[in-house]
Amino acid sequence: AMLDKNGYDHYMLKEIHEQPQAVAQTIKGRLDRDIGKINLENYGISKINLKEIERIQIVACGTSYYAGCLARYFIEQFTRIPVEVDLASESRYRTPTVTAKTLSVALSQSGETIDTLQAIKFAKENGAKTLAIVNMPGSTIAHNCHDESLIYAGPEVGVASTKALSAQISSLIILGLALAQEQKKLSSEKIAEYIDELVKIPSLLEKTLTLSSYIEHLSKKFYNALSILFIGRGPQWYVAMEGALKLKELSYIHAEGYAAGELKHGPIALIDENIWSVCIAPKDSYYEKTISNIEEIRARGGKILAVGTEGDENLKSISDEFIGVPECSELIQPFLTTVPLHLLSYWVAVKKGTDVDQPRNLAKSVTVE
Ligand code: G6P
Repeated sequence: AMLDKNGYDHYMLKEIHEQPQAVAQTIKGRLDRDIGKINLENYGISKINLKEIERIQIVACGTSYYAGCLARYFIEQFTRIPVEVDLASESRYRTPTVTAKTLSVALSQSGETIDTLQAIKFAKENGAKTLAIVNMPGSTIAHNCHDESLIYAGPEVGVASTKALSAQISSLIILGLALAQEQKKLSSEKIAEYIDELVKIPSLLEKTLTLSSYIEHLSKKFYNALSILFIGRGPQWYVAMEGALKLKELSYIHAEGYAAGELKHGPIALIDENIWSVCIAPKDSYYEKTISNIEEIRARGGKILAVGTEGDENLKSISDEFIGVPECSELIQPFLTTVPLHLLSYWVAVKKGTDVDQPRNLAKSVTVE
């Protein structure tokens, strides 16, 4: 039986709006703020000994892959453990380097993606400890891993993944904190501080979601575009990648995501008065550098839609259009900047009249290699 759309026109819009609950469910019961501790058992770690882990590998596809790439920044920040994020479909084509001290994570909403399943089986065969981070209970991927951690985002029907992404990033942040705790890389006070940050995410997402009608209005300027560039730095690079992926998937408009600093090494050649660039530049440690990349686009006549921090008059003044997300810490920023990009791809697709919940040529879960 199909789930109810709960008054929304599409599952995708409903699921975008369910992100606050999705993240709340992912973190529920797993964080003990008072003692600054991650509850490993509730998180789903029972067989794997996190104290022994010297390296992390994340295997995933599509939006899940970007969730892994983004979370890498935070896991490395908390633990100083090297994290490698592999496209599941490619990870078996290199000589295996995993060991018994490698934690291989299969990150998959459905838990059924064949590429991810094959990749995690390969890691396990080569001796790695394997953890499934999945949304659907009873999945094939979880069945093939040592441990399973559910994200509890609730059923996701729209082919393009939205709420699962925020839940996956939250889950990987918890995993990073759990590793830091077990390996004594962070004090319980520091872990408590991060827990305080994590619990703020749902209400900040709620605030960010009020941008929907403004973005619906903006979408008029984009639905006729032939090509749109997305740029960001640090974790926002992967928000840019995700924004470009979603636009392609839903509205069939060509889009490219790029690391802002890489612009000058190639894609800047694409810029002229007909090209829009979506520039993601919240007030973070890389802000000044991203601003100079935006100036470079502007100097070449390119049009700019900036996604930044609410009230950033400086960014607003150098952009043609501006979307502000609530001010927050760098840990939370990517959760918030993803929201306008998902909404943009949604509203552009609605204006174009494409099939939002079931884009052509795509499947919710891909079970062929
Ligand atoms: C398909 C879906 C994507 C999803 C990807 C990975 O391509 O269309 O939305 O991100 O599979 O799916 P998974 O279930 O493994 O996260």
